Amino acid sequence: MSIVVNESWTLEEGADRVSALFEQTFGARPQAVHSAPGRVNVIGEHTDYNGGFALPMALPHRTYAAVSKRDDRVVRLVSAQGQGVREVNLDEVDTHDSDNPVQGWPAYVVGVAWALEQAGLGELPGMDVAIDSCVPFGAGLSSSAALECAVAAAWDDFMSQTPDWSPMLATEEGRAKLVEACIRAENDIAGAPTGGMDQAASLRCKAGSVILLDSKDSSVRHIPFAIDEAGLELLVIDTRAEHSLADGQYAERRATCEAAAKKLGVEFLSELGMDADLSGLSQLEQMRTRHVVSEIQRTLDFAQLLEAGDFVGERLQALGELMTESHESLRVDYEVTVPELDIAVEEALANGAVGARMTGGGFGGSAIALVPKEKSARVMEAIAARYEREGFNEPHFLHAVPSAPAE
Ligand code: GLA
Repeated sequence: MSIVVNESWTLEEGADRVSALFEQTFGARPQAVHSAPGRVNVIGEHTDYNGGFALPMALPHRTYAAVSKRDDRVVRLVSAQGQGVREVNLDEVDTHDSDNPVQGWPAYVVGVAWALEQAGLGELPGMDVAIDSCVPFGAGLSSSAALECAVAAAWDDFMSQTPDWSPMLATEEGRAKLVEACIRAENDIAGAPTGGMDQAASLRCKAGSVILLDSKDSSVRHIPFAIDEAGLELLVIDTRAEHSLADGQYAERRATCEAAAKKLGVEFLSELGMDADLSGLSQLEQMRTRHVVSEIQRTLDFAQLLEAGDFVGERLQALGELMTESHESLRVDYEVTVPELDIAVEEALANGAVGARMTGGGFGGSAIALVPKEKSARVMEAIAARYEREGFNEPHFLHAVPSAPAE
């Protein structure tokens, strides 16, 4: 049985590809190349918009942007994954609620400029930009955040050549501000009501580590994630089942959580303890709340175990169990899994994974499995064979190595 592994590009390879596309499209070499990673969330799902904790890491798979600054306010865009050249004037970008003229993937690009300007950072120049990416699309691995963060890095770089701008990429504080702008671009211009974990991961993770992200105050703690040295692998299973965050399901989960918080008199569900009295909520609100509150606790427990020492014995066992419990909670109480995700988890566990769960928003997308390296091939084969028997799309696999942030 053939196994499809989605390899990442080296930085050089990515830069070469995107520079060639730029030159072929715009007839000159780009002034700079920037890039930003996709992410996997190790644990802490649907917690970010509830003011809770998540534990993502950056993937080696990145989106590349080759750019040249323009003297006007026009953004010309081309993508290796799209068709033709698109052109948008930054003066015409407006929020999603009004008659927004920017549709499709360019909204993620010009939305970032709009959000930086809204944050009072002055008027940004237009640019020519070519995009290429090895982050799979629609796989729940944050290809949209990778795109936003790569162009955020480009605008920061252009503006850093002007007198009043200190490079935001150079400091944690500056990166946090770029995260905010990318979230606004996604929420207000692209129209996806996501919570911010993806942008934080893409801009603030470090190679070799996960971040413990506290969405209440946007603070992050870097925690080493040396799975490789421990003989383990974090395997990503891209189910290639239909997946979309903008189709209303995600927004509906978020709205239910907000309604539940309001009824309970808290700003965010993260303020509730494990023993909170949920009896005043509808049955559905109780289920969603139960997931959020327990998931935040699992994420903190996971982080504490990681900080306590190596991936061995009972500690490793406990880490795996937390991942698998997270999946169960997302399946039963949050109802965001699909058969492809459940079966990927089931087969991974049956074939030697220490723990497994869906990652990202759900409704399709990807699952992850923490697997002893010597069992990785067996897990991939078992999942691929089962998918074939079930008549699902052929799964793709990625090796998730904790990687560097946007640059
Ligand atoms: C998507 C969103 C994130 C987060 C996850 C679920 O990836 O973009 O903000 O809510 O779903 O944890």
